[in-house]
Amino acid sequence: MEKLKIAVIGAGNIARNAHLPVYAERDDVEIVAICDWNLDRAKEIAAKFNIPHAYTTVEETLEKHPEIEAVDICVWNRSHAPVAIAAAKAGKHILCEKPMAWSVEHAEQMKKAVDEAGVTFMVAVMTRYANESQVLKAEIDSGRLGDIYYAKTGYMRRRGTPIGWFTDTQKSGGGPVIDIGIHCIDRTWYLMGKPKPVRISASTSYAIGEFKTKGVNRYKALDSDVTAFDTEDSAAAIIHFENGATMMAEVSWAINMEQDGPTEYTHIMGSKAGAKMFPLRIYGEENGYLCNMELPTASNNAYAAEIDHFIDCVRNHKTPESNAEDGLTMMKILEGIYTSAKAKKEIEL
Ligand SMILES: NC(=O)c1ccc[n+]([C@@H]2O[C@H](COP(=O)([O-])OP(=O)(O)OC[C@H]3O[C@@H](n4cnc5c(N)ncnc54)[C@H](O)[C@@H]3O)[C@@H](O)[C@H]2O)c1
Repeated sequence: MEKLKIAVIGAGNIARNAHLPVYAERDDVEIVAICDWNLDRAKEIAAKFNIPHAYTTVEETLEKHPEIEAVDICVWNRSHAPVAIAAAKAGKHILCEKPMAWSVEHAEQMKKAVDEAGVTFMVAVMTRYANESQVLKAEIDSGRLGDIYYAKTGYMRRRGTPIGWFTDTQKSGGGPVIDIGIHCIDRTWYLMGKPKPVRISASTSYAIGEFKTKGVNRYKALDSDVTAFDTEDSAAAIIHFENGATMMAEVSWAINMEQDGPTEYTHIMGSKAGAKMFPLRIYGEENGYLCNMELPTASNNAYAAEIDHFIDCVRNHKTPESNAEDGLTMMKILEGIYTSAKAKKEIEL
């Protein structure tokens, strides 16, 4: 089989620690080039992963290597749209890190470009491709939970604000809502069967900001010499859907609450049974009694599973599970949370 020729755009943390190690394990992929505004960073990664070429712009990368078939976008959120639009115009398939874009406007421009080019576009929402999500999705699709009418989800860090561009709205688009809210809200929305969002009521808090707490771990972007800190540090939202279902969501990078268990949770409630992750458990009835059922599920490398799905879609002309339409809807939900919080009232989408 011919190897799929890919260029990775962005040589930061997610590229070097998650995507490139997965590609290195695959014999059906060739990473032709790595590109980053910071050429030293691109060259360092090229040497580490045996990538023959390093460039500073997506335009130069694609111009020099017309043989490239797909790009994997691992740059800041604000750069997703310009890079994706350039790639789509050059006829390349696209895997784009989450969130799809910096704003709804950017996401709409990206969708238009990929639709016009007829290329495959996938948002890298890895939580969907985790084993636990796939097992629960199969249970829900089999009808085991009945009709889903309510869900609640959260991603709550007590002190876990990332260091770097993430706290600069001009680069990120927002704080925990857009950064980790997408992980739990997208997964929950997917498990609910992707109902159409119609109304949102939300609030955001700016209570803690930068902190000097000792003994905590924080994610550090490679571009961490950024001084701006103008994002929220927590948020809560009620999202209403056209089919009558409701999702409650809460997220935080920093908040004063107990943190003993996992930072992320999802509960899905249906007319026949409910489900919870993590661990994966189903709450129903058996022989007239309440019954809790564990579904022990080995964890997988969700990045590897997401990349596997992308390559399968490109090779076999399939529409990805997390396609541009989904990415745009998710951006409308995330931006809707900010709009409602700012307006201090429920908004219609
Ligand atoms: N799925 C996950 O679990 C996960 C985790 C972390 C980050 N991410 C996402 O990955 C993306 C990158 O985050 P990171 O933590 O790797 O950041 P990072 O700062 O470590 O790396 C980003 C790199 O992008 C480069 N860059 C920005 N715009 C560019 C452009 N137009 N052209 C070329 N290079 C450009 C920067 O120079 C930098 O090296 C973000 O969208 C983030 O949301 C996803």
